[in-house]
Amino acid sequence: MENNRILIVEDEFVVAADLEFQLQSMGYQVVGLASTGNRALELAGREEPDIALMDIKLNGDKDGLETARCLHQTLDIPVIFITAYADSELLERAKRSEPFGYIVKPYSSKELRATIETALYKARKEKELRESENRYRTLAESSPSSVEVVQNGRFVYINPAGVRMFGFERPDEILGVPMLDVVAPEYRFKAAERLEETEKGRGNPPAEFELVRRDGTRILVESVSAPTLYQNRPATLIIGHDITNRKRAETLLAETQQDLSAAQARLRELYHALQRAREGERCRVAREIHDDLGQNLTALQIEISLLKCTADLNQAPVAERLASMEQLVNSTLLSVQRISTELRPSVLDSLGLAAAVEWLAGDFEKRTRIECRSRIEPEEIRVGANVATDLFRILQECLTNVARHSRASWVRINLEQTEDATTLMVTDDGIGISDIQSNGAASFGLQGIRERISALKGKVDIQGIPVEGTSINVTIPREAGAE
Ligand SMILES: Nc1ncnc2c1ncn2[C@@H]1O[C@H](COP(=O)(O)OP(=O)(O)O)[C@@H](O)[C@H]1O
Ligand SMILES: [Mg+2]
Repeated sequence: MENNRILIVEDEFVVAADLEFQLQSMGYQVVGLASTGNRALELAGREEPDIALMDIKLNGDKDGLETARCLHQTLDIPVIFITAYADSELLERAKRSEPFGYIVKPYSSKELRATIETALYKARKEKELRESENRYRTLAESSPSSVEVVQNGRFVYINPAGVRMFGFERPDEILGVPMLDVVAPEYRFKAAERLEETEKGRGNPPAEFELVRRDGTRILVESVSAPTLYQNRPATLIIGHDITNRKRAETLLAETQQDLSAAQARLRELYHALQRAREGERCRVAREIHDDLGQNLTALQIEISLLKCTADLNQAPVAERLASMEQLVNSTLLSVQRISTELRPSVLDSLGLAAAVEWLAGDFEKRTRIECRSRIEPEEIRVGANVATDLFRILQECLTNVARHSRASWVRINLEQTEDATTLMVTDDGIGISDIQSNGAASFGLQGIRERISALKGKVDIQGIPVEGTSINVTIPREAGAE
């Protein structure tokens, strides 16, 4: 037992002195004896006792009941009443004032001690509860989330954030209102179910509700609820926050994302359609130049040879003219072949991808003097016409890059086909591409490679090591590359 401090309020001195003696022998500290209510208040203010033992009947302005009320309310000091049997009506009144205990004379010291200890325990618990309630109240009052307590289906507490959320100005405008009244009709069943859950002592996970504000507008709120005690009686604690704007933004974002991916898909389709159209056009123009122009030029060559046989070659200007004409036709024929090959090498259509790759490698080496080897495994690569075109154009872009950017002395081309995939790898020993260069937004060449490969559901891997070189590896699954 801590050395608890007790104030005795008793107007019969002998009784008071006896009580003091008993208490001291029990180990309590008596901080004063007061014979009137006013004196008791004065002493209590100065000494701050833990508890007061008080006779209900007191001389002076204030009787025991009144004094006890003041002590409890102003100084937070609990009171035990002492009374005689004869005061039974007074005792009833005292009981109704919810004292911390009462003792009826005559009493044993055991009874006295038990009553004091019980009262001290009760007072301490009440104080702890009040403090904890105050802490939570402060927390709730400053919370940005809405905090409400519902008892018997009605709001009994709401914090300022809650008042604002519902569109009110003061808590009393909503206190006492049935909770379901603020829930949108289609959510009432769910809300009532959750309320029942907490009444059975179970908490509820977060859920979304539409609530109706004072002005009739609706808001979307996410809330959790849990059983609690409010003023010592079971209640439901609800914590919520307005997610209307967040939801709106999320919906908008989702819609925008959908629009964006649809636009991207359309753009991609357009790109491929353009690419196909361009390839078709090149093919047509190349054939036309080759067949039409080429045939006419060849006919012209023949005409010139015939002319050479029949004309009078002793006439110098005629011979000269014919020779220069022949030269012109020959070089035009070469130009026509070069242009048509550049547009679309006929080897790709006539002999297939493997032959076209070998031809391109040879042509590249001749033009750039960069050693270019190709390894093709197996000899015949079986792919559809569109895939062949894609891989050929990718190789062309890679080789152009080697010539333009790499400063390499050699380049290797590897074209492989397995059961599952077709792989093209172009490796050089140049300065090495950097990550920034390979991912750059303006890298249209590499971007084009990625586009072509993504349409074929394949993968592109670009690796660069400074000074050692660059390796570009594209793989397409066999089903996409199948003929
Ligand atoms: N084989 C390579 N070696 C070194 N750098 C390269 C190589 N290929 C590409 N690059 C770098 O990557 C960049 C992007 O290439 P690309 O998309 O084809 O665009 P472009 O050729 O029009 O510059 C090039 O500008 C170059 O800096
Ligand atoms: Mg390029």
